[in-house]
Amino acid sequence: MSFIVAIDGPAGSGKGTIASAVAKKFDLFYLDTGAMYRCVTLKFLEEKIDLDDKDSVKALLKSINIDFKKEDGEEKVFLDKKDVTKEIREKHVTENVSKISHLKEVRLSMVNLQRKICSKYDSVLDGRDIGTNVFPDADIKIYLDASIDERIRRRIAQNKEKGIEMSEDEIRNSIISRDNNDKTSEIAPLKQAEDAIYVDTTNYSTKKNINRVCLIVKKARKKYERIQSGYVMTKETTLKRIRRSIIKHFLSAVYHIVYRIRKNGVENIEGDEGIVICANHLNFIDAAGIVLLNKRYIRFVAKHDLYRFRIINYLGHLFNIIPVKRDSSDVKSLKLCLKSLKSGEALGIFPEGTRKGMEKNVDVKNGAAFLAYKAKVKVVPVGIKGTFKPFTKVEFNFGKPVDVKEFKTNDPNWLDRATNEIMNQIVELSK
Ligand code: DC
Repeated sequence: MSFIVAIDGPAGSGKGTIASAVAKKFDLFYLDTGAMYRCVTLKFLEEKIDLDDKDSVKALLKSINIDFKKEDGEEKVFLDKKDVTKEIREKHVTENVSKISHLKEVRLSMVNLQRKICSKYDSVLDGRDIGTNVFPDADIKIYLDASIDERIRRRIAQNKEKGIEMSEDEIRNSIISRDNNDKTSEIAPLKQAEDAIYVDTTNYSTKKNINRVCLIVKKARKKYERIQSGYVMTKETTLKRIRRSIIKHFLSAVYHIVYRIRKNGVENIEGDEGIVICANHLNFIDAAGIVLLNKRYIRFVAKHDLYRFRIINYLGHLFNIIPVKRDSSDVKSLKLCLKSLKSGEALGIFPEGTRKGMEKNVDVKNGAAFLAYKAKVKVVPVGIKGTFKPFTKVEFNFGKPVDVKEFKTNDPNWLDRATNEIMNQIVELSK
């Protein structure tokens, strides 16, 4: 997944100028989604499309060709190969764009296009619904705002620069009516995403506002790079092995001081064949227990965003933890897991996917059983027992290996049955 910066806010809040500067500074692809809706509006007006005639609306959306190019350092917008950079800012387009952009067919078509374009490149998008609708999982969401008077002042200056004729009253009425329409629309209304950072640009210069936003993006970019770095395994060197061994012994000693450890069935994970170790997940440190308290080198699969923490990033690389994105098919991660198992490693996976998943009644995923089947290895169920309060007993019960391929039948749900068996054993072992 590419790095995505989502910038939303009302007209005149500074989105375009700031998004364009962010793109330049961080070498991102910039998508002005407002310009896309303006192109659609221009085309609807030119072709005099009846908005109630859904077939004509759909046909036009299918045939439309919108393109962005940089020429002489200036962002240009092309509609069906014609330069419409200036035309889409004209009064007749501005007056109709809010209504047309909130038609269901238009929104679906443009949102799909926006996702398609920006999934390929590290991008910054500006608009009204980027953080809430187009990329709800964006790496950073910023909501820009400014007072109405300041936004009008900026639009007057912008129009003057671009040679667009509109009186102050016309601009004021247009902004107020578009604000109203954008915010109250049933489809993808303009609103601040819950996890967006609110930036009021009213009382600052353009340069200062750009710097303020760039600082936010810089932090997000660092976090993103740390997460991505998890997928690139650092080389296994002798030095890395020695470091891992020292840290493993040290942390294992700490574990033994803090808890009274009991292990049963450890022989089930010994040997040099690939195995998947599946345990119940109680807290943050149970995986560490499995890794630290056993002689065998065990790698774990953990959610990818754990790598955003500096210290876990370091330990993650040292212990070769494989990052995985939840709720998505993470091909990179899948390949790393298969490679690890096929080369005879032990791979720890929490099938519940989250802490205390069984208590929360989460839908247990088939990932562990699927990997074991693909890599032709067995699954060892593990039951972990204990409150993890300091100086109390913590028990790790390793069960007999389960051969997933014995569940393979023509029944399309055979993987579910294998997963159920693994989960049943985990429950038994953790009683
Ligand atoms: O940012 P702008 O003023 O060029 O946007 C033109 C119109 O397009 C605006 O009134 C609302 C609409 N729009 C939208 O509904 N969703 C977006 N993501 C971007 C713009």
